[in-house]
Amino acid sequence: MKVHFREQVIPKMLHFGKENKIFKYPVLAFVTGYFACHHVVQSILKERYRYFALTSAVLIFLFSSSFTDPVQTEIFASETVSAEESTEEVLRLSKLPESELQEENLTNTSTVANDQVLIFDENEKEQEPSFDDDWKLILVNKQNMVPSDYSFELGTIRGSIQADVRILDELSQMIDAAKKDGVTLTVCSGCRDYNRQTVLFDKKIRNYMGSGMSYFDAYSIASQAVTIPGKSEHQIGLALDIISNNYSSLNEGFADTEAGKWLAANSDQYGFILRYPLGKENITGIEYEPWHFRYVGQEAAKVITEQGITLEEYVEQIGLR
Ligand code: DAL
Ligand code: ZN
Repeated sequence: MKVHFREQVIPKMLHFGKENKIFKYPVLAFVTGYFACHHVVQSILKERYRYFALTSAVLIFLFSSSFTDPVQTEIFASETVSAEESTEEVLRLSKLPESELQEENLTNTSTVANDQVLIFDENEKEQEPSFDDDWKLILVNKQNMVPSDYSFELGTIRGSIQADVRILDELSQMIDAAKKDGVTLTVCSGCRDYNRQTVLFDKKIRNYMGSGMSYFDAYSIASQAVTIPGKSEHQIGLALDIISNNYSSLNEGFADTEAGKWLAANSDQYGFILRYPLGKENITGIEYEPWHFRYVGQEAAKVITEQGITLEEYVEQIGLR
């Protein structure tokens, strides 16, 4: 049939087209189309196993869970970066004027103004840690989301910085003690809600993408510095980013400042630990952050600091996980 069509019908059509000028181009178009389709069909049939494998791979990729991760969808949806830009991110990018930094110095509990209770989003439910009601040791990290029913009372630090009200006394004592030693500590980022964390995370990704990185590379690198929304302990009000009045950049250099050294040596006495130490990235999943301190209570802080371990290792050691 095919041979008949190609060898008899097509020459007749071409002849007809030659004799009837008006049909010349439609006939040529038809004949060209016929040969093109014929060629494509033939090559698909010839390579059908390869095409089948390719189609299967594309389908598996499209429906794989990492591609359809809801967190990523959320990041694409968030477009409010400039309005929501946080102090932390500003500090990462540039130095703030000293006056602005001073506005965010800590006050004691008597100045807590806007206490409120945080209730976290239902969407954050994924994997809920069992922390035996010991709020100080709750583990929130890449493997353990903020529990969907987690709530706490929020206290305000001078300016717009907020944290769990239960840690403010010791925080205040720590800042006073540092001051006596001639070191000024400044809390530049405290409690962040889910939306604020999303804004920071999204912005980080876009910064990397702006320098030519693919979305997936940018996502991966961003998550080493800013935790994926829903998995940051800044969301539970127990984490603080602390800098000093003469070094406001959030980078490794902070470790060598007077404030960085003072915190590393003394913060455990007030219940705080350096949460993301150098050399423990394989456990925390977060890069070295000498400015990020987490409240765990004095007892745990002493053990964790003395043993040079992470909160992950500590909760496992005492059988909480
Ligand atoms: N910068 C820390 C890891 C956070 O985003 O929670
Ligand atoms: Zn932090």
